[in-house]
Parts: sequence; structure tokens; C-alpha cells
Amino acid sequence: MVTRHEQYERARKVMPGGVNSSTRVNKAIGTPFFASRGEGAHIWDIEGRRFIDMNCGHGAALLGHAHPAITEALRSANEMGHLSAFETEHHERLASLVCESVPCAERVRFCSAGSEATMHLIRACRGFTGRDKILRVEGHFHGYHEMIYIGGFPPPDRLEENRSQPFVESPGIPGVLADLIIPIPHNDSEALERAIREHGDEIAAFILEPIDYNCACIKPEPGYLELARRLTRDAGIVLFFDEIQSSFKKSAGGAQQDLGVTPDVCTIGKSLGGGLALSAFCGSAEVMDSFQPVGPVQHSGTFNAHLVPILGGVAFLEAVRRPDFYPKLQSLEQRFHEGLDRIIADRGLDLVVPHHGARFNIVLGRRTPALRYEDTFCHDNEKMLDLIRACWERGVYFHDYGGIPVHHGYSIAHTVEDIDEVLNVLDDALT
Ligand SMILES: Cc1ncc(COP(=O)(O)O)c(C=O)c1O
Repeated sequence: MVTRHEQYERARKVMPGGVNSSTRVNKAIGTPFFASRGEGAHIWDIEGRRFIDMNCGHGAALLGHAHPAITEALRSANEMGHLSAFETEHHERLASLVCESVPCAERVRFCSAGSEATMHLIRACRGFTGRDKILRVEGHFHGYHEMIYIGGFPPPDRLEENRSQPFVESPGIPGVLADLIIPIPHNDSEALERAIREHGDEIAAFILEPIDYNCACIKPEPGYLELARRLTRDAGIVLFFDEIQSSFKKSAGGAQQDLGVTPDVCTIGKSLGGGLALSAFCGSAEVMDSFQPVGPVQHSGTFNAHLVPILGGVAFLEAVRRPDFYPKLQSLEQRFHEGLDRIIADRGLDLVVPHHGARFNIVLGRRTPALRYEDTFCHDNEKMLDLIRACWERGVYFHDYGGIPVHHGYSIAHTVEDIDEVLNVLDDALT
């Protein structure tokens, strides 16, 4: 048997950091989690240990691993011949299911990663409005590309400056692109009004995560999304919900359905392919028909909407649209959070676990939910890594994300016994 340390040694010789996604080196365990297989709620590492998976592919495995409907979809793909670069009847079937499920979706296009989806849709917003600037919210994440990896997560000592000189989040992104980004604090109606008053006619889109799973699961304060809806409509700005993470976690319609505010456009992804690589961008016919060959905006690609994940997407949508899917997910959510709340209360712990549907965030150092990015500066990343390591030693896998207060979650394949076991482990690990 190869140990994880040996595998890490080998991998580092041929891939930067031994990984294909920089955050895949798990700081809590000192190596990546080298998986050998996954089934339902469980994953096995290359040393043969079994874990209850509380990451679920960053939210991709909402059906659990190797769900029978996805295995069946893969069998159909084998029969059809894996076809790259063709449209099929299945593409239209999946697009129709998305348009029936997601409130803002009149038209949809499919791609692989969430980063691609936000990139293409930002281009459409710019092409549609003829404007270049993007209004965004601090503490929200929209992918790693040049268009938007700016101004979201400034270090605490750069926060004030971020609002006049947006923080460029990676070397390699040209500083001039920061001139196109306007960051505002979350849940700050005045800042939103001011930005639109001062820059409205330069802003193509207001992009935000309706549930901010990438930072403490911050939810919009009452009236904030409604205000955003009204102000953007009045100013001719495209309201853009990035639902790459929030889609399908609580309902088939996503957070826009859960919260009752319909944007002009949105991105959806992660779980959409049932664990296969699939994301999408969708919205009003008016904005989406900006794309060629109807409008002038270019969007093409050999692997766009590859047949294999499209078939996975059809199987996924059919699964989540069954009447018993969300009630079951909700009963797991209730059991997990009632149990965890009891542990926190009994021990008087200084942490909160805000949640929405099948995902939740653990925020250390506070007893009330955060409302803004800066409310999370009390969170101690090192303590979080200690907690994740303690769970890993006890057979429960949380991804580390460097210890920041980001999302974790379960799948429809988790059983009540799995949830109870995770609670036992957390109870022990939090001691
Ligand atoms: C809200 C949001 N947008 C975009 C992305 C980027 O998606 P991907 O990792 O599939 O590129 C993520 C990924 O975590 C996300 O949570």
C-alpha cells in the first residue's frame, strides 16, 4: 500500500504542490486527501480508511457519490459514444428542466466549471448593457478568473482601502482590471444606494451570492435583496445572483426561490451534474439572447455542454424534482442542527453554525450570525484546522479551506446514522 505521504511526495514532483486545485492541499492533515473511491455518504482514502464525507465535493455530490441514476446516465453516455461538440435532444431536455425549475431562467447555456459560468455571464451583462463596471459585495466569491477575483476578500488591514482601490486577489491579475470593480460591504443598503447613485450608468451588473456560503453563510437582511432588485431595475443594471453554490441546496429553484427575489440572470452549478462537471448560466431571454448567433456576444467552446455531464444533469434534475427529495434533505438538516445546537449550548461554546439547506458554515469566536465580511475577523483559522484534524482522526472528513469559515455539507445519501455519528465526533472533537 502507498501511504498518503509517499503519494504526496510523488505527486509534488509532477504537479505544482502535488495538486490540480491549489486549495486541495489539506492544511489540517498536511497532505491532500488522496481518495481511492466514494460511495453514497462515504469516501475511502488510499490507506484504506473510510470517512463520512462532510464536504461532498465542495457541494457537487448532493446526491452522494456514485448515485445509481448517475451511474445509469454514464451507461447511456457509453452507448451514445461520449460525443463532444454536438447538441442532442438531452441538451434541450436539461435546458427545459432548468427553465421549469429556476425562476429567472428563460434561456440557459451549459459549461463545466462555476468560474467559467460567471465569466461568460459577466461578458453577456457587459455586452447587453454596453457598460464595463461590475458592482460586487465583499466576502462573496465568484470564481478565480481575472474578471472578478478582485475586491472580494481583502486582508483585514486592506479593508478600508478596498472600497477605493479594490484588492487584487492574485498576482497575475492586471491591476488595471481593479478599475472595473466596485466592492461594497454586504447588507449595507446605504453603500448600495450610493454606488448606484454615483456610478449607475457605468455599471453592467450587480453580482452577489444570495446566500453567502463562501463567508459565514451570511444571509441577506430583510429588504436588502428587494432593494437591490428595485435599484438595479431603475438604473438598467443586470441583477446577477451567483447561485453556483446555493442552487439546489434547499430547493430546485435555488436561493432566488427560497428568498422570493428573482434576478435578471444567475449561474448555477456544483451539484447540477450529479457529481459530474457541469455548471450553467441562465436568465431572461432579453439578456441571454445577447449571445451569438442571436446577439453579438461570443461564447463558444469544444467542450461546452459535453454530453456526459449533460446526461448526469438530466438524471440529477429528475432526482431533485421528486416530491420526497427536499423533505428528506430538510429532515437531515433539522436533525444535524438541533443536535449541534444542543452541543454548543451544553458546553457554552463560542461558535455559530449558520445554515441554509444542505450546507452550513462553522464560525468561531461569535455567538450570533455574521452580517458582513468583517464580522468574521474574529474567526481563528488555526483553531478551525485543529477541529478539522480532530474530526479526520475520528473518521469524519471536512475539507480544510485553510481554516476559513466557509461551507461544509451533506448529501441525500447521508443517513440519520451518519448524521448522528458526525454529531458524536463533533461532540468529542469540540472538547
Ligand atoms: C458562488 C460561487 N461562484 C463560483 C464558484 C466557482 O466554481 P468552480 O469551483 O466550479 O469554478 C464557486 C466555487 O466554490 C462558488 O461557490
